[in-house]
Order: sequence, then structure tokens, then C-alpha cells
Amino acid sequence: MTTIDTIDKNKVPNHLAIIMDGNGRWAKKHGKIRVFGHENGVKTVKKTVESCAAAGISYLTLYTFSTENWNRPKFEIDTLMRLLVSSLKKELATFMENNIALNAIGDLDSLPQKARKELQEVIQKTSKNTGLTLTLALSYGAREEIKNAIQAISTKVKNNIISVENIDETIINNHLYTHNLPDVDLLIRTSGEHRISNFLLWQIAYAELYFTDVLWPDFTEQHLVEAILNYQNRERRFGKTSEQLI
Ligand code: IPE
Ligand code: IPE
Ligand code: MG
Repeated sequence: MTTIDTIDKNKVPNHLAIIMDGNGRWAKKHGKIRVFGHENGVKTVKKTVESCAAAGISYLTLYTFSTENWNRPKFEIDTLMRLLVSSLKKELATFMENNIALNAIGDLDSLPQKARKELQEVIQKTSKNTGLTLTLALSYGAREEIKNAIQAISTKVKNNIISVENIDETIINNHLYTHNLPDVDLLIRTSGEHRISNFLLWQIAYAELYFTDVLWPDFTEQHLVEAILNYQNRERRFGKTSEQLI
């Protein structure tokens, strides 16, 4: 079995992002309603976070709820928000034990009050942890993030804080939700869908993409290790030639 110990700890992705997809189909496959899939997906989140911390990954960002997911049936949205609150309460101890700092990105103001309060509390209590930074993308949409950045920069231009000529990639980066996170190195999507679904459009410009047919509740440490090993065998050229990299 391929375990975390088989990976080269010096070459793990600095920032791993995951589109955790397939909970609904997993539930259907087991003859259950969709939310059963979300309940089991939460177990995979816990295991994956622990494995990433053990692997020495510095940043893990999980696509947890998209701006488009607000269009789902109310019962499903309510269940997802309830699961978020109960998981945060339950996992604070796990975060402290594993030196994990919690972070959140997205339109957090649109979350139910209970979820906002719990998030705030766990973020604050884990803020001194220096290991893995775990970022939950909640009510997150990359286009909205970019729109917000453009509005914020435009306001600064209007107020003579920034001049148009000085707008560069660093300034744009600094106005995104992810301003304190590095670019994504590896993006994993489960469930066999080959799309980005409005996730981190700016930040994945040079990420390595990895798609697996495994449904999120079935995603194990072994699948994670396979993805990391695959990543470690890729040549990231960033526009250069192979010869230039030697
Ligand atoms: C991912 O699983 C979880 C969220 C988007 C919240 P889905 O709920 O999208 O599951 P499928 O894609 O319908 O199987
Ligand atoms: C993306 O999955 C959002 C999350 C995983 C939170 P979706 O299941 O919502 O994506 P689409 O709509 O199938 O592209
Ligand atoms: Mg889906």
C-alpha cells in the first residue's frame, strides 16, 4: 500500500487545492438521499486534512460551498450549513493537536449567523498554529472574488491611492480573498468531472491539474498519495524549455 511515508517530503505541493465532488452520486449509489453523501464526505475531509498535515503540506484549500451551490434545494443547503457548524465544533481539538490554522475565503457574510460565529471562533482559536493552513472556500466564487478586487482597486484609483499605471499582478493578488496564500501548485478534483466550476481562477494559472473518478466519500489517503506522487513526477516548466530547468 502506498502511504504518506512513500512520498518525497521535500517535493510536496506547497499549496494543494481540492474540489471535493461526488457526494450526491455516492449517496445515490448507496440508495440513500444526497445529504447522506455529505455526511460521509465530512469524514473524508477530516482524514484528508490529517494526511496533508502529516505529509508536510503548508496550505490546503477545500472547495466546500460555491456561490452557485446557493441554487440547491433549501433542505440540502440547510444540511450543509448544519454539518459545517457541527464539524467546526468537533474538529477544533484536531486542529490544535495537528498545529493547523483555520482560514476561510468567500462571501462569508452570506453564511448563516451560526456558521459565521463558529468559523470566527475556530479561526481565532487556531490563529497561533504554525503548521498547515487550512482554508475553507465557503460561498466562494472566483468571478465574484475578481469582481470585488476590481471594485476595491477602482475605488483606490478614484481616491488617488493607486494610479492606473501602477496596477500590476501583485496589486491584483493583494485584493483577492487569497491575498495571504501562495499560488496553487496542485489542484485535485474528484468524481470524474473535468471542470473548474468557478474555483480559484486566478490562483490556478500554473497549477498542475489532477482528475480522479473516485467519488469524494471514497477518497482515501492512498488516493491522495497517488495524486501527490503523480505531481512529483511532472515537469513544471512555467513557459521555459526542459533544458533551461537543469
Ligand atoms: C460535492 O458533492 C459537495 C458540494 C458541492 C457541496 P456534490 O453534492 O456536488 O455531489 P454530486 O456532484 O451531485 O455527486
Ligand atoms: C463544485 O462542485 C463546488 C464544490 C465542490 C463545493 P459542484 O458539484 O457544485 O460543481 P458543478 O456544478 O457540477 O460544476
Ligand atoms: Mg457535484
